[in-house]
Amino acid sequence: MSYKAAIIGGGIISRNHLDAIRQLPEMTAVAVADPDLSKGTTLAQEYAITPYTDYREMVLVEKPDIVVIAVPHYLHREIAVWCCSKGCHLLLEKPMALNVKECDEILEAAESAGITLLVGHTQHYLPANIQAKKLIQRGELGELIAIQDTRHLHYYKDDRPDWFFEKAKSGGGIMMNLGAHSIDKIQFITGSRVARIRAALSYYGSKGDVEGSGMVFLQTTDGLSATIVQSGYEGVSVDTTDLIFTQGMARLISGKGLWISRNGQYEQSPLEVQEDPFVLQFRDLLEGINSGQEPESSGAYARTVIAAIEAIYASDAQGGEQFLETI
Ligand SMILES: NC(=O)c1ccc[n+]([C@@H]2O[C@H](COP(=O)([O-])OP(=O)(O)OC[C@H]3O[C@@H](n4cnc5c(N)ncnc54)[C@H](O)[C@@H]3O)[C@@H](O)[C@H]2O)c1
Repeated sequence: MSYKAAIIGGGIISRNHLDAIRQLPEMTAVAVADPDLSKGTTLAQEYAITPYTDYREMVLVEKPDIVVIAVPHYLHREIAVWCCSKGCHLLLEKPMALNVKECDEILEAAESAGITLLVGHTQHYLPANIQAKKLIQRGELGELIAIQDTRHLHYYKDDRPDWFFEKAKSGGGIMMNLGAHSIDKIQFITGSRVARIRAALSYYGSKGDVEGSGMVFLQTTDGLSATIVQSGYEGVSVDTTDLIFTQGMARLISGKGLWISRNGQYEQSPLEVQEDPFVLQFRDLLEGINSGQEPESSGAYARTVIAAIEAIYASDAQGGEQFLETI
């Protein structure tokens, strides 16, 4: 079966999805919808698809089997629920929605429509993360006792679209946007879920009303402790996750690979060659559609990421530890 796909939101990430679809013979991209016609027209020429300014018109005319939703976060719920009502399978970009309540509305709509929903948590498809997960599972470095995840990048750079700095549209700043990746990475590689969380945020950004840094201490359902430290102010870029075991350490450096220390020295671990993460993400969605099974990065899973982020904001506001319901 060949699946017709359409994209809602022709912004920065849309090209990753369109490039991935090109690599999948079982999928064909047919259209893109963006109220900014110039974005749609540029993509339409590049990928030989039809541009629309109204996503509803696009879905009604093109009748896609799969819709990719890649719009500002405050539109995720509204667009996802509407697309469910039209029977489209969904690849909904992360973070799933602004809060848990909105996630529940999407989950309900997906279930009553009987569609497959995958949320774009790309950490599940990065080769170094997959290798780190296997390392933990093999237990060859003993017990995993702590994870230290550190990310610094200049979040306030001029080319970031303005909606990212408006809490009402983005749901939050660096913790909502990139903290979602850190929570997902920790949950994915350990196979556990965030159970309790304490956080402190700062708001010194040059624009908007979102937090520009965050420091989080969390424990997972397996009793593992982890910290997440993120700063979006100017500085030196870092994207590193240290895994501390009883008999060694491992270091994930995003986009570069995995280093393992067995006797006091780090050695780079060769990674398995695999397809582009965005291709693998679509493969998971297609498998979910064909099998009727939930994909790994399902809506229910993605809701756990939003619950953890919600707990980060609540902990910062109230000054105490937050306990999460775990599934
Ligand atoms: N998986 C990843 O690693 C990753 C990376 C970047 C972004 N993202 C996520 O992808 C999503 C989009 O981010 P982006 O960086 O591409 O943002 P962007 O601002 O570049 O793109 C969003 C696009 O949505 C369009 N849009 C606004 N309202 C719309 C509507 N009603 N209908 C259709 N289009 C509409 C905007 O005009 C814009 O072109 C976000 O959820 C973001 O967090 C994920």
